[in-house]
Amino acid sequence: MAKYRIAWLPGDGIGKDVMDAARIVLDELELNAEYVPGDVGWEFWCSEGDALPERTVDLLRNTDCCLFGAITSKPKEEAARELAPEFQDQGLVYFSPIVRIRQLLDLHTNMRPCKAYPGNPLNYRDDIDLVVFRENTEGLYAGVEFHPVPDEVRQALVRNHPKMSRFAEVPAQEMAISCRIFTRRGCRRIVRQAFDYARRFKRPSVTVVEKPNVIRETSGMMIREARDIATEYPDVELWETNVDAMAMWLVKNPEDYSVLVSSNMFGDIISDLCAQLVGGLGFASSANIGDSYALFEPTHGSAPKYAGQYKVNPMAMLLTVKLMLDWLGEVESGQRLETAIAEVIEEGEVRTYDMGGTSTTLEVAGAVAAKV
Ligand code: IPM
Ligand code: MG
Repeated sequence: MAKYRIAWLPGDGIGKDVMDAARIVLDELELNAEYVPGDVGWEFWCSEGDALPERTVDLLRNTDCCLFGAITSKPKEEAARELAPEFQDQGLVYFSPIVRIRQLLDLHTNMRPCKAYPGNPLNYRDDIDLVVFRENTEGLYAGVEFHPVPDEVRQALVRNHPKMSRFAEVPAQEMAISCRIFTRRGCRRIVRQAFDYARRFKRPSVTVVEKPNVIRETSGMMIREARDIATEYPDVELWETNVDAMAMWLVKNPEDYSVLVSSNMFGDIISDLCAQLVGGLGFASSANIGDSYALFEPTHGSAPKYAGQYKVNPMAMLLTVKLMLDWLGEVESGQRLETAIAEVIEEGEVRTYDMGGTSTTLEVAGAVAAKV
């Protein structure tokens, strides 16, 4: 029996292309694993009315971890239109499968390293080495939203909050509410992950990225918990910034920062910004980590127009494989893989189109595998 059972979820679009690339390096590293394919994505939304069928959730519950390709997400109305005729008008609502998996399996920590590998022509600067910790199950992604706003919800808000009086007369159809839900537990565990990481890898600082001057209760809670947890880590400095200013500082002086921690939505935005500093989404890896399960996915989307062309850059996926190897405890393999990736980037001979080259997805994976 293989040492690991890994759920293998290519998903949509170029998800399959980059998963094939992942397999080339995993086979070269001779990871002792069984890869169990699972259904997820747009195809299953259209044909079954569910982008994340129950059998796939079972698969996740019965594996050690998951490698995930990419997924197509569309807004509510557009998604409903593409359903098979038998599922039309049943009130089915599309909800991003990746967001659902994060919540179902309580994968509370989204870790997104953004490191500039020397020689990458797409680097904004060569001295950037950031790691974003994004809370992954709460905040604006909690999915508690109203439109139209039911009367009882509005009445309860008006009774309980003076600031609601401005909205007391707005017709239900004319108002939408999305709840930003934070829990102390959620704040504490993401902040603790960031500090643990900083301590383990001797990082000088953890920067909390929020907006407590305006969003007093939720961002305020994150900052208060961060200050409390920081007292346990005298070796790591706690910095606090507002998310708007952070966007500016990251463009101006990204080398000043090291570990960032934020809530779900701000973390989503800031991690795209950080990815662009080190070459864009073609280099952005991510790990969704819970207490006993983890799912690894490149941050990029499914780029449907390039699907099956083996054209896109697999580096984000290969770096994601490194995160998976680290999490499994295969640290030596992870190190070999990262070194191989860095060498291929530095030599610059095998590059996909986004880096100015003509190599295919699989040729890049092959070049990395050869170095491994
Ligand atoms: C990400 C993506 C997802 C998110 C989308 C695809 C739902 O942008 O992983 O950053 O918003 O979390
Ligand atoms: Mg995102």
